[in-house]
Amino acid sequence: MHGLPETFFARQDESPDEDFYREPRLTTHIDDATIDALTTFYREVLSPSDRVCDLMSSWISHLPDDVNYNRVVGLGMNEAELRRNPRLDELVVRNLNEDPHLPWPDGHFDALLIAVSVQYLTRPFEVFLEIGRVLSPGGRCIVAMSHRLFPTKAIYAFHVLAPQERCRLVGSYMELAGVFKSIQAFDRSPPNADPLWIVVGTKSRAE
Ligand SMILES: C[S@@+](CC[C@H](N)C(=O)[O-])C[C@H]1O[C@@H](n2cnc3c(N)ncnc32)[C@H](O)[C@@H]1O
Repeated sequence: MHGLPETFFARQDESPDEDFYREPRLTTHIDDATIDALTTFYREVLSPSDRVCDLMSSWISHLPDDVNYNRVVGLGMNEAELRRNPRLDELVVRNLNEDPHLPWPDGHFDALLIAVSVQYLTRPFEVFLEIGRVLSPGGRCIVAMSHRLFPTKAIYAFHVLAPQERCRLVGSYMELAGVFKSIQAFDRSPPNADPLWIVVGTKSRAE
């Protein structure tokens, strides 16, 4: 039990997410310098041998162009966006607010990324339980956040909490998943651009 008020996870627009995400948005959601900072972070922490899941994905995954990962799988709401994403070996269209179950076996990925999207999860504790399950021992969950959002679709918590508190909230999603041995937050904001806060959870090697 997380003990947080349910209103934290409510949204102004509770209509089906399928309606909101029906039309593809082939735009970027953070400044170029912020994308570069995220790509640099991925370059530092991911290995080419990693099996990567880009959860809440779109047409761009921000992975370094010159690194080929073992496998990259994307899950998001809009099929046209995912089909435009040159990094994906496989794509899945799924509404995690309707069905928080992840359609992969235990230990299927070495890294799971959520870029500038975690604020749209209304059932985050269930999704992070699943993230803990699909990660391999020692695998990492990397949640990148900035300050832009679709206001009607972001949960109330992301409207009222300060950036550090949002990082702590995401840290609590990981903590309650019960399998992460270390949870760290990084401020990788570039100067004069959208900020970049990153929370990384590393799954224990022994369960
Ligand atoms: C602001 S975009 C970010 C896309 C991409 N990660 C990026 O960094 O550009 C938000 C993404 O969250 C995904 N998303 C929003 N609500 C979702 C839901 N209920 N289930 C699954 N994905 C969702 C959408 O498909 C969309 O691609």
